[in-house]
Amino acid sequence: MQYRLFLLAVFAFNVLFISCQSGREQANGGKTPAEVSEEKLDSLMNLMTLDEKLNLIHASSSFTSGGVPRLGIPELVFSDGPHGVRHEHGRGWYALEDADDKATYLPVGICLASTWNKDMGYIYGEVLGNEAKERNKNVLLGPGINIIRSPLNGRNFEYLSEDPYLTGIMAAGYVKGLQDQGVAACPKHYAANNQETDRHNIDVIVSKRALHEIYFPAFRAVVQDGGAWSIMGAYNKINGQYTTHHEYLNNVVLKGEWGFDGVVVSDWASVKNTREALLYGTDIEMGTELLRDFNNPEYDEFYLARPAKEMIENGEIDESFVDEKVRRILRLMHRTTAMTDHGPGKRNVPEHQQIALEVAREGIVLLKNDDLLPFDKSEIKTIAVIGHNATRHFAERGGSSQVRSLYEITPLEGIQNLVGDDVEIIYAEGYEPYYDESLFADITGDAASQSRENRRDVELARTANKKLMQEAVDLASKADAVIFVGGWIHGHDGMPWGEGTYDAEARDKLNLKLIFGQEELIRQINSVNDRTAIVLMGGSNVEMSNWLPDSRAYLHAWYPGMEGGQAIAEILFGEVNPSGKLPMTFANSHEEYPSHSVGEFPGYKTVKYTEDIYVGYRYFDTRNKEVVFPFGFGLSYTTFAFSDLKLTKKDNKVVVECTVTNTGDREGAEVVQVYVHPKQPSVDRPVRELKGFEKVYLDPGASARLNIELDESAFKFYHPDELKWLLESGSYEIQVGNSSRDIKLTGNVDW
Ligand code: GLC
Repeated sequence: MQYRLFLLAVFAFNVLFISCQSGREQANGGKTPAEVSEEKLDSLMNLMTLDEKLNLIHASSSFTSGGVPRLGIPELVFSDGPHGVRHEHGRGWYALEDADDKATYLPVGICLASTWNKDMGYIYGEVLGNEAKERNKNVLLGPGINIIRSPLNGRNFEYLSEDPYLTGIMAAGYVKGLQDQGVAACPKHYAANNQETDRHNIDVIVSKRALHEIYFPAFRAVVQDGGAWSIMGAYNKINGQYTTHHEYLNNVVLKGEWGFDGVVVSDWASVKNTREALLYGTDIEMGTELLRDFNNPEYDEFYLARPAKEMIENGEIDESFVDEKVRRILRLMHRTTAMTDHGPGKRNVPEHQQIALEVAREGIVLLKNDDLLPFDKSEIKTIAVIGHNATRHFAERGGSSQVRSLYEITPLEGIQNLVGDDVEIIYAEGYEPYYDESLFADITGDAASQSRENRRDVELARTANKKLMQEAVDLASKADAVIFVGGWIHGHDGMPWGEGTYDAEARDKLNLKLIFGQEELIRQINSVNDRTAIVLMGGSNVEMSNWLPDSRAYLHAWYPGMEGGQAIAEILFGEVNPSGKLPMTFANSHEEYPSHSVGEFPGYKTVKYTEDIYVGYRYFDTRNKEVVFPFGFGLSYTTFAFSDLKLTKKDNKVVVECTVTNTGDREGAEVVQVYVHPKQPSVDRPVRELKGFEKVYLDPGASARLNIELDESAFKFYHPDELKWLLESGSYEIQVGNSSRDIKLTGNVDW
């Protein structure tokens, strides 16, 4: 009898699979194939035993979750990361040294956001989808879309902005570009994972209003606008429950209100409770083996393996909760390259490298220029290039987002390539990342590790290599022009990964002080040569008050990817006109940010988001606080004028029209930003919020008439007591400008 049942099952499956197969489309240009019907999903699932279903809902290796070989269902293959397909791990945790895994290393997420180019999100995602597909990955673990709440978060480089609207627009495009290639996006980390300190346990205490107005919107955008096929949970708790299996986040909001029909993937080892994971929306558990023996992981011990089976078999949890997970996983598999042919991928091709260059060109931000840039190489005989970051490679740093880049053009190489033999270039390191253990010989024992890190940061912020500094200053004094390349280092030489790293996963910075004595070095260079351009790398800002006033030019380059050095050189020498705009506010010190001055950061066991919705410019502008460079700010080598604002209200939309003119003598691009200011709100609301933007490219003297639509949602707020979105009648000012602090045109509309 058993055998006959088995034969019947196999026959039924073959009928089903053939129909799936016939449902398979050779995706034309990677378009998502027709969705698989619910009946087919259930038919396939009903062929499975409980063990086979459980096999699907947890890891089967470091970067795969289980399949069902008997039924021809493959494992699901995951890979980091948000700005490049990570190196091969095989089935273990450590990187395979001899794999064919060189890849395109795109500029990091915050550089992508700094382009404010809506099309760039899709283009960026498309590159990643092609490269992931070529490497036989089904799910790419990105984009990182957590809000930049504090400039100290070690992973800000991987994220996009302090503003949820800008984050959502760029991320939704990225998701579409990636998934049109048949690779699932997995936007992360849902939600309020805004620090690395104690990330596995910290409990974020935050209001529902702040969740809905600040920390949710980008996730809603990637689900409802981007159509994300998976979402990654976070390590932290929110209001007492782990986010990866959070009833409100997953069941009520994500899968309920937003209608998400994809898969919630845990972060690696973020599942902490079998019952909650079964009941509250975790669909695949990854990574727990990291907590045990990397080389002999016990997959049966995963929370969603044997412990889950026991709960179901003893009737504590109904099997239907597993069925719902399996249905979602099969739906995801059918959408992706796991079970549908999306055509061949491409990797390390010139067009991908060109896109890396374009993102860097448009994402690097010119913040100061006192009549110094662009350099005219015909007027320069000798350039001093100074700074360790001028020759440092960043691709394999930063933590899980690391990429084995096919190549990486450093700023020094980019400058050499551009000026060629016409100009003599002399390099000096100026400062060096180092870790002098002797500084801490007196600190022993595990309990002192935090104070050791504190001491280390303080020491390294102050300690400089005097010899390197003097050599660099001497060189600067003799050059026609100086280019200093410094900033954060995206990891720390000589330190174990995850400890003492700067601008990297698993650790936050302790302050924004320039490290390794760079501040003194910049001051001394400026004192001997007033034709000095400062270029800083990093996932956020640094303290500037001690060196910026005496500096004539400052470019923030983030981590600009494999072509970053080329783009930096092109901007410094005027072959490219910079058009990047800050996606986060640059204040002078971390204490000035609301997460530190009003709220808590990083907290201890709990972290209270007392600043609530007042994050970034929402705080600085509403409370009239001084900043060094505002949200949305960025300079150009040309100038622009805004004129002729016209507001038209129709069909519950407001159409914002205005004209932008290039009033300078060279081509350039401007970002027109539209903010909404409620004039008589019934509850406390930010003085302005970004609700629309367009980037426009203009030849000298040319004008463009822009048309930006705002729908009702642009005027709504989440009521703190009624706990729902409301559109309040009244007058609203529409503010059009090129930063949150530079409003050029205003007009009023009434609701
Ligand atoms: C890490 C990160 C996550 C990454 C995952 C797999 O802990 O938090 O962003 O995708 O593990 O490497």
